Amino acid sequence: MACVKALAESPGLTSIPSTYNFTQNQHDHEAVSEIDPEDSIPVIDFSLLTSSSPDQRSKVIQDLGKACRDWGFFTVINHNVPEKLMEMTMDACQRFFNLTEEEKREFAGKHVLDPIRCGTSFNASVEKVFFWRDFLKVFVHPEFHSPNKPVGFSEISLEYCKRIRQVARELLKGISESLGLEFCYIERAMNLDSGLQILVANLYPPCPQPELAMGMPPHSDHGLLTLLTQNGICGLQLLHNGKWVNVNVVPNSFLVNTGDHIEILSNGKYKSVVHRAVVNNKMTRVSLAIANGPSLDTVVEPSKELIERQSEAPAYIGIKYKDFLELQQSNQLDNKSVLDRV
Ligand code: SIN
Ligand code: FE2
Repeated sequence: MACVKALAESPGLTSIPSTYNFTQNQHDHEAVSEIDPEDSIPVIDFSLLTSSSPDQRSKVIQDLGKACRDWGFFTVINHNVPEKLMEMTMDACQRFFNLTEEEKREFAGKHVLDPIRCGTSFNASVEKVFFWRDFLKVFVHPEFHSPNKPVGFSEISLEYCKRIRQVARELLKGISESLGLEFCYIERAMNLDSGLQILVANLYPPCPQPELAMGMPPHSDHGLLTLLTQNGICGLQLLHNGKWVNVNVVPNSFLVNTGDHIEILSNGKYKSVVHRAVVNNKMTRVSLAIANGPSLDTVVEPSKELIERQSEAPAYIGIKYKDFLELQQSNQLDNKSVLDRV
């Protein structure tokens, strides 16, 4: 299948092919609300998490817990990852998408566990409708992989993903503590030293009929924490209290969301929130999501400590992360259907 970028660049394109019409087979684009400034995505000041002041640290851990409970999404500022490195990584991803179709074909993997995979749509083998999106997915940890072009991609992504792992680890310490667990609980339970980290770059070219198409269908993220940056163009929406809300871009920050395996570990206290990407007819949007998950062999189940302490019944059955990913791949993505089946 040709990439959406090439389709979008075809001269005189004024309408989308019917296979990209998301409204035909699926529900319509529902009404979208703007985020209420009084109730918007929480902001977490990362520098306070590493602060030597116990008061500051316990306050930010409380904020983190509230953000995970109420939103499942939060914006991280003062994260210490150099802005220049963030820009260079975004630029390297854009240069990847600018390779010729033939050059990109070399990286067209099929299976969810292929370490380098570029393509279009979401999961073309099971989908009836295609999405207005091209993507590149690369497994960067525990083993580092990289396409061998464009120039510099490998060095830049290696450094960027290493820095993101450090941020994710600190956030997971805070999240452990916010659940009343030991700070290193999640990193131990998830075997983070060999945790799976995936770089996902998404390209959404301008679309002549954005109201009919969808960039990325509603889904929740499978791992623990996803850290997202974007090229200044909005398009991400999340389902908050039953309504789709637009997410604004905050420069030089990470938008972080908790994934399905935090939901399982926390026995549903912190939900992985459904989100989607819509497209526009003017500007190319690029987003870069770094997904940080358990090691592939880890069986994730609700924390025994949490369950015993709160005399709860486990709400999820334990499943190996690798099996979870394969199950997800074999299903047509439909919101959180994979998690609901577990
Ligand atoms: C994602 O859900 O992984 C990213 C969506 C986006 O492009 O913002
Ligand atoms: Fe996502």
